[in-house]
Amino acid sequence: MTLERVPTGIPGFDELCEGGLLRDRTYLVSGTSGSGKTVFAMQYIVNGIVTYNEPGIFVATEERPQHIREHFSVFGWELEKYEDENMLAIVDATSTKIGLPSDERYIDVRPFDTRSLIDQMITIQDEIGAERAALDSTTAIGFSVQDPARFRVELLKIATTMEILGLTSLLTCEIVDAAGDKISRFGVENFVTEGTIVLYYTRSENVRVRSLEIFKLRGSNHSKKIHPFEIMENGIVVHSREEVYSEI
Ligand SMILES: Nc1ncnc2c1ncn2[C@@H]1O[C@H](COP(=O)(O)OP(=O)(O)O)[C@@H](O)[C@H]1O
Ligand SMILES: [Mg+2]
Repeated sequence: MTLERVPTGIPGFDELCEGGLLRDRTYLVSGTSGSGKTVFAMQYIVNGIVTYNEPGIFVATEERPQHIREHFSVFGWELEKYEDENMLAIVDATSTKIGLPSDERYIDVRPFDTRSLIDQMITIQDEIGAERAALDSTTAIGFSVQDPARFRVELLKIATTMEILGLTSLLTCEIVDAAGDKISRFGVENFVTEGTIVLYYTRSENVRVRSLEIFKLRGSNHSKKIHPFEIMENGIVVHSREEVYSEI
């Protein structure tokens, strides 16, 4: 049996994992602040829309949708246009958190409520028929839920709903120290996902270097190496033929 692959379309990435992610599965993208998680997640959604004609849902818990639209326009991504075409839905899960009014089309209530997010996704599914989703980030939800055991259950509900809705999804997770072995913030995020991609932003002498590792990817014979990547004018480019060696 061959499993259907969903190419991320991120240059250099899909060849590290037999052509892409497995359809209807949920994956974790972990990394420290500034490591490129939001760019990776949105590039996956945008490539789905532009290259593969697959509508996408982006749930923003940390950055306001208007800022997201503005920041990503520099990469040439026309988010507002995709929204108008019903190819993209951005869920504003930030504004209400900080008590600000929001005139976004899709708003999530506060305090965080899994049921409401799930209902929102079902509504969006009826409207745009998405194939891909990104939740950026799980960490904000983890802080609002607080108890790790409950957080794990809530995340499992979200991930399972996404899978049942036919979505292939990325959940981002902000870790504090990439040098350690901790690949998730609350130690539970990686248990509800089928795979984990870790983004590193490490200092080497007086420069910072970006690299990426496919830590786990169930059902895939993936690269076990750490590959450098760059954020260029059109987004992330992974140097799949190069490796990063640690300095001992
Ligand atoms: N147009 C751009 N060109 C090059 N690098 C960029 C561009 N836009 C953002 N970046 C880089 O991406 C970083 C932010 O990445 P982001 O995905 O928001 O990180 P994270 O979500 O992991 O905190 C910025 O700090 C900057 O270094
Ligand atoms: Mg981010």
